[in-house]
Amino acid sequence: MPMNIAIDGPAGAGKSTAARMVAEKFGYIYVDTGAMYRAMALYMLREEIDPADQGAVEAACEKADISLEYKDGVQQVLLNGENVTAEIRTPEVSRASSAVSAYGAVRAKLVELQRKLAGRRDVVMDGRDIGTAVLPNADLKVYLTASAHVRALRRFKELPAGQAGVSLDEVEAEITARDKQDMEREISPLKRAEDAVLLDTSDMSLEEAVRELEELVEDAGSRGCCGC
Ligand code: DC
Repeated sequence: MPMNIAIDGPAGAGKSTAARMVAEKFGYIYVDTGAMYRAMALYMLREEIDPADQGAVEAACEKADISLEYKDGVQQVLLNGENVTAEIRTPEVSRASSAVSAYGAVRAKLVELQRKLAGRRDVVMDGRDIGTAVLPNADLKVYLTASAHVRALRRFKELPAGQAGVSLDEVEAEITARDKQDMEREISPLKRAEDAVLLDTSDMSLEEAVRELEELVEDAGSRGCCGC
C-alpha cells in the first residue's frame, strides 16, 4: 500500500513549500491539489464563463482535461495538454478557483484524479479536504495553519514584482475572504479532520515547520511498517 500523507489548511499557511520539502526528503511525490482547482478556474476564465455561474461551470468542467506531470521533480499542471503552471498564480485565478471549487461536478472530477494518484504512489498531498474527504484513510493527516496576519505577511513578502502596488491589508483581506468562502461552502469545506495533527506555524520558521512534519511522517512510517 502506498504511503499517503494529507496536509490541509487555509491559504498561505505554507502547506505547499513544507509539503514539497517533506516529499523530496522521503522520495514521495508532492501533489498540490489547489493547482488543479486553479487550472479549472483558468479554463473558465479563458472561456469567459462566470465562476459564480454554477450551471455554466458544471456544464463546462467536463471539457477541461487536467493532469499533472513532473519535470525535475517539480509538479507541472496541464490543461488540455498545455502547461499552465505559471498562469495559475494570479489573484484573479485565486479568487475564481475558490468559487469553482464549491461546485459538486468540479470536485467529483478532481477528487477522482487525486485518489487515482494516491492509490498508485507514495504521496504528500495538500489541499483543503484531503484528510476529510479525499483520503480519509491517510497514514498521516496534518492541519497546517497560522494566524491570518502571519499568513498575509508571508504572502506579502513573496508578491511578484507585477503586484508591487498591493498593500499588506489588501493581501490579508483577500486571504480572509477566500478562507471564509472555503470554510463555508457546503461540499467538503475546509476544516480540520478529527484525527489530524494540528500544526500552528504562526511562531515557527519554515525550517521548524518542516522538521516537525518530517518527524510526524517518520512516526507514521514506523507505525505503518510490518516490522520487517
Ligand atoms: O491551495 P490553493 O490556494 O492553490 O487553492 C486554491 C483554491 O482551490 C482554494 O481557495 C480552494 C480550492 N481548493 C479546494 O477546494 N480543495 C482542495 N483540496 C484544494 C484547493
